[in-house]
Amino acid sequence: MQNYSEIEKNTFAEDILKGLSSNPKFIPSKYFYDDEGARLFQKITELPEYYLTRAETEIISTQTEQIFNVFKQKSKDAETFDLIELGTGDGRKTAILIDFFLKQNTNLFYFPIDISPRTLSTLAENFRRKFPKLQIEPKFGDYFQVLKDFKPNPTRRKILLFLGSNIGNFSYEQSIEFLKKLRRLMRKGDFLFIGFDLQKDPRLILRAYDDSQGITAEFNLNLLRRINKELGGNFDIKKFSHYATYSPIDCAVRSFLISLENQSVFIEYLQRSFDFAKWEAIFTEISQKYSLQLIEQLATRSKFEIQQNFFDSKRYFVDSLWQAV
Ligand SMILES: C[S@@+](CC[C@H](N)C(=O)[O-])C[C@H]1O[C@@H](n2cnc3c(N)ncnc32)[C@H](O)[C@@H]1O
Repeated sequence: MQNYSEIEKNTFAEDILKGLSSNPKFIPSKYFYDDEGARLFQKITELPEYYLTRAETEIISTQTEQIFNVFKQKSKDAETFDLIELGTGDGRKTAILIDFFLKQNTNLFYFPIDISPRTLSTLAENFRRKFPKLQIEPKFGDYFQVLKDFKPNPTRRKILLFLGSNIGNFSYEQSIEFLKKLRRLMRKGDFLFIGFDLQKDPRLILRAYDDSQGITAEFNLNLLRRINKELGGNFDIKKFSHYATYSPIDCAVRSFLISLENQSVFIEYLQRSFDFAKWEAIFTEISQKYSLQLIEQLATRSKFEIQQNFFDSKRYFVDSLWQAV
């Protein structure tokens, strides 16, 4: 019988086969986060150009009480909450919220979900030490795989957290599908607290995805290293280059890996070679930016009602608190 990691490896291999056989080629962005990818992402959050994490941390740390009050006022009958976080990362911002909730004697069950096992185990260890009263049940895997089998207690009000502009990794249309799926797992009155990166000076946005120290480039190229490591690929990393664009028409950053020469790459696990033409691109990530109008439309079309928007002082970012209707 296959063990769990073999199943994971097969899914990874299948997705790589599909992506590298397509035209144009692509690699799903959820594969960024092996141990090295998670470490590099942590470095990205500290870069001067990467304003997103700082803006959202400012929102959550300076408006904690206001955020808590909306949850409290809009769920007068509820005493216990299931806090379900999709794609936790290091959970630093979530820790600020949890700390405040616990200080108000809220009864909290925390279910962190992440596709990076190392990220999840480090977070669980930190949170158990920091919050001995918190009931915590980490769930490893892809959001929807986990949510499909997840049967939370129906008597507890759910708060879904989707921070860090993770929603931006879907196009606008894909986001609607994603949010509708989420909504079907929720009951009327449950909450979604969701972080959106807002439209702003296109130059400022682009710099966040193409930093001067080249950490984002390393993060992107790490996808190829991961294929080499886990699937026995022979990508020569020097023969690919990170390239990011921002289109102010559809308000999306797109990241690519560009082949610098005609080349063929063999992947042992797939027993297949893939040809790359000089300047051919592999599409690796979309980071969709939002206007308040688009956010309003997203909420309405997926059967939520916006209760309140929380902005940072520069209005770069918004954490939007929605309730299922
Ligand atoms: C951009 S980071 C954001 C982390 C955190 N939410 C924050 O605001 O700092 C994305 C996180 O989501 C996880 N992730 C990405 N795609 C995922 C998926 N499909 N299912 C589960 N976790 C995923 C990654 O491992 C990573 O920890």
